[in-house]
Formats: sequence, C-alpha cells, structure tokens
Amino acid sequence: MNAKNLIKGRIHYVGVNDRSKHLFEALWPLPGGVSYNSYLIDDEAVTLIDTVDVCYFEVFLEKIRSIIGERPIQYLVINHMEPDHSGSIRLIKHHYPDITIVGNKQTFGMIEGFYGIHDDHFLEVRDNDSLTLGHHTLRFYLTPMVHWPETMMTFDETEGALFSGDAFGCFGTVDGGFLDTRINTDRYRDEMIRYYSNIVGKYGMPVQRALQKLSALDIQIICSTHGPVWTDQRCQVIDLYDRMSRYEADKGVVIAYGSMYGNTEQMAETIAAELSNEGIRDIAMHNVSKTHASYILADIFKYRGLIIGSPTYSGQLYPDVDFLLSRILLREVKGRLLGYFGSYCWASAAAKRLGEFADKSKFQLVGQPVEMKQAITPAVTEQCEQLARNMAAALNAQTIA
Ligand code: FEO
Repeated sequence: MNAKNLIKGRIHYVGVNDRSKHLFEALWPLPGGVSYNSYLIDDEAVTLIDTVDVCYFEVFLEKIRSIIGERPIQYLVINHMEPDHSGSIRLIKHHYPDITIVGNKQTFGMIEGFYGIHDDHFLEVRDNDSLTLGHHTLRFYLTPMVHWPETMMTFDETEGALFSGDAFGCFGTVDGGFLDTRINTDRYRDEMIRYYSNIVGKYGMPVQRALQKLSALDIQIICSTHGPVWTDQRCQVIDLYDRMSRYEADKGVVIAYGSMYGNTEQMAETIAAELSNEGIRDIAMHNVSKTHASYILADIFKYRGLIIGSPTYSGQLYPDVDFLLSRILLREVKGRLLGYFGSYCWASAAAKRLGEFADKSKFQLVGQPVEMKQAITPAVTEQCEQLARNMAAALNAQTIA
C-alpha cells in the first residue's frame, strides 16, 4: 500500500497535476497549472471517485495500482462528466471491464454521448440514495448546475468526506502535498475566486441550493476535483463559496478600461487617485488589453465597486471592453455599484453603449457618467474626481448600513 497518498481511513488521493496546459477549457490561463483530483476508497468494494484528463491516464493508473495492486475496482462514481474528470472512463473500463459505473440518470446519457459506453454495468442513483462499500457508506446528493446538469456530490458518511466535484475547487497544481495542513495554501484563495467566477460564476442560485442541501452534513474533509484537499480550512472554503454565490463582495473598486494612446487611461488614473484620497484602499486597475478577462472577472466578484471606461472604436465600444461586458452579463453578476466613463475623437458612441450596459446589468448607477473628447481637460478631471467621490461615498454608505 502507498501510505503517502492516504487522506484518512481508507481514502487515498490518486489525482494528477497538469503543468503543461496553457488554457483551461482552452479559455482560462493556467500560470500555476491545475490538478485533476480523483480518489480511491480501498474498502471491501474498491471504489474510485471520478477520473482524470485522459492525457494523464498512465500516471493515474500507476497511482491506483500502487494502492490496490492487481485487485479489481468494483465501483467508479462519476460526480461530473466534464472531460477533465470523465476523460479516462473508457480506459478505466478497458483495464477494469467488470467495473460498475455509479451515476444519475443524466450521467449515463452523457457517458454514452461522449464515450459510446452503454452497457448493463451502470448503477443509477437518485438524490439521497446510499451505497455500502463494506466499512464505508456513500450517500449521493444531486447538485445540478454546479457546474453541469448531471453534477452530483458524494458524501462518505464513515469519514465525513465530501467528494464535491468542481465545487470548492481552484486553479493551481498541488505541489508535493495535497492536504491543506501540509502545504502553504495562500496562493489558492485568489485562484479559487478566479476559478469560481469564470467556471461556476453563472450558477449562483444552484450553488446556494447545493449548500443548503449539504448544510446538515458533518463535513470533515472536502475532496474537490481541483486543488488541495480541505480539512482544517474547510469552513473558510465553504464560507467563501457561500459569499461568492450570493454575489457578496468586499469594499473596493475595480477600474477596467481600454485605452489606445493613454488618453482614456488618464481618466482612469484620475478616478483611482481620488478614490484613494477618499480612503478606498482596495483599487484594482485593469487595462483590458493587458489583463486577461478571467482576472478582471475574479476582481469583479471580489469587490463591490465597478468603474468601466472605454474609447469609441469604429462607432462602438472598444472591442476588449465589449468582450468584458458580455462576460459580466453572462455571469449575471448582481449587486455592484457602477460608474462609467467614455471618450471619443470625432463622434461619441462609447458612453451611450456603456449606458446600455448599465441598464442591462441592473447595477446601481453611481455618480454622473463622464465623457471626454480627445484628451483630458480640467473640466473632465473635475468630473472624474466627482465620480470617484460618489463611488467612495456609496461604498462607505453600504459599509455603514
Ligand atoms: Fe473541472 Fe466542470 O470540470
């Protein structure tokens, strides 16, 4: 038996690290890589929880064999079908042909669709069903749309371990240890926010429903499919998810702007300086052409204030600003204080388009929008400073309330 992968009791970590991929889902940068976590319960009925990206199957299989040798696996529980976790199902089935795949009704349709597997080795579970493995008893909770419709979570009642799928996961490989008690977890908090805001962020209500469903469980360990295994820090992680899925955020302001030649950027700098004068300490400034949208979205989930700036470009918004706004609307972010500013050279358009975004977002509009022709003037400077003062006052008023 390989004791170094032991989590607790008979639960082992058999996940892998991906340090090669540049973009998760071919969209989201992975500067610190990502892990695909899978877990093995070495009980009378040996049980595997989720698999890994198929590129890492050989490493995965070796990890499994280092624990159970040539013994068979009886059950494969599939909590989530996105291929970063389901990608090795076909190869697992090839090596363990008698394995029974445990999932819900929606799972099996996807297994057939993705992998062409349709046999009688399926065990369909419904909400609150249980499965005894010998020493361990698993109970299943359907948690649709965290992050796909078939998503479920599996709770090991024997050890209090929640196999939570994507929930409570984060970007970043697990380097050396995987338990939160054995590694410095500082770098994972921001990556959990970035993971949540970009991957799961649209599904705040389903996450709230899932948290409600899990609230009566005595969770001792959270075994997510990405990032560390949470033990001592499990309550902080659950609290963070609770806040993010309610769209709650801290006192602070994101200023996201486009600027081709630095003129619109001068408006952003003026606003930021006045926010600071007004005592706002957390100001996250992003030039949308430089910062990947995934980091800006993460900050928008982090802070209550949002100020957007855009030049007029071909009679429209600056393209990268337009892209960011569409990402915000897609995630149905709620409860932000919004200010905006636009610029133009000969025909105004950006400020009008930002006004349309303000209407669609249903954010609370703060201050007067500022518009600039060509370059900053004392009058525009004063308007930018007034916008900043209004934003600071609105943030302070919310904090007091
Ligand atoms: Fe990590 Fe939704 O897959």
